[in-house]
Amino acid sequence: MNQVTKSSSASSLLYIDDLSSANLDYLLKTAALFKKEFYKTGSLIHCINPEQTKGMVVQLLFAEPSTRTRASFEVACGKLGIATTSLWNLHFSSMAKGETLEDTFQCLMALKPNMIVCRCGELKAIEVFLHSSSIPVISAGMGTKEHPTQALVDAFTIQEKRGKVEGEKVLIVGDVLHSRVANSNLRLLIRLGAQLGVCAPEALSPADKQAWKDVIRFSSLEEGIKWADVIMCLRVQRERHSLRNIGFSMAEYRDHYRIDQENMQMFRSDGILLHPGPAVRGVEIANQALNDPRCHIITQVENGTHVRSAIISLMLNLEIKSL
Ligand code: CP
Repeated sequence: MNQVTKSSSASSLLYIDDLSSANLDYLLKTAALFKKEFYKTGSLIHCINPEQTKGMVVQLLFAEPSTRTRASFEVACGKLGIATTSLWNLHFSSMAKGETLEDTFQCLMALKPNMIVCRCGELKAIEVFLHSSSIPVISAGMGTKEHPTQALVDAFTIQEKRGKVEGEKVLIVGDVLHSRVANSNLRLLIRLGAQLGVCAPEALSPADKQAWKDVIRFSSLEEGIKWADVIMCLRVQRERHSLRNIGFSMAEYRDHYRIDQENMQMFRSDGILLHPGPAVRGVEIANQALNDPRCHIITQVENGTHVRSAIISLMLNLEIKSL
């Protein structure tokens, strides 16, 4: 079995650039080890020293909706023997009585969990606060800014299904402007040597032209699909469009950007179709495309647990046994 080389522990993970190259290497290898061991034995507890995680508690705070990120962090902690406590229905927290999110964080930190996992909007004050936290913090997605753990899941899935990330042509389709997943993937996949392409309506194209300058723009979905090894489809984040006139109807969006059976026929036979989820059937992706054998959206969800177990191990500086 491959021995995992322990890299130095990161103190907090808010952005992809918080991770060194050694951290990235450690995370991809440890997630592969965890997946293999979990398939073999149904457990991960033999991969670590259980004395290290005994009594540990991770606090989750989700100020925006989530299914897979929150559930996979809870499952990942459980598999490593770490207890979790979760604050997510903020209508039933003291925020409903007027407490601010910053004060809510301060309160949770005073309880001294071993780590905090949080999803929140883009609040400058929160960012500064999280950076100065004495307790490790993992971002589970921050507004439209970054979602580093999802990008790590995507890179791991590309490596697993395509054999490598370096040199892979990854086409990102859809609402790039509002996508924290796209922003983290831009940083991560380019660092890992992938080539990126983007196909999006003008109104949903990346705002930061400088950051996206090396990414190929495709005006035609067909052209992009013929170029790509990996298609990464994004959800149209209508909840973030409320202040913008995006200049087209959902019917027009479907006509030009939805991945369906017809354009899957133009896609290479060994390519892979990804979506960070939640995928809205019929809007950005058609039912037939979801049922195509090249679609690995559920594998991404499964990999989410293994990748997040590896992230937790890195952040809490857990020893991984050489098996
Ligand atoms: N990909 C992702 O963040 O999904 P959830 O919103 O369900 O957590």
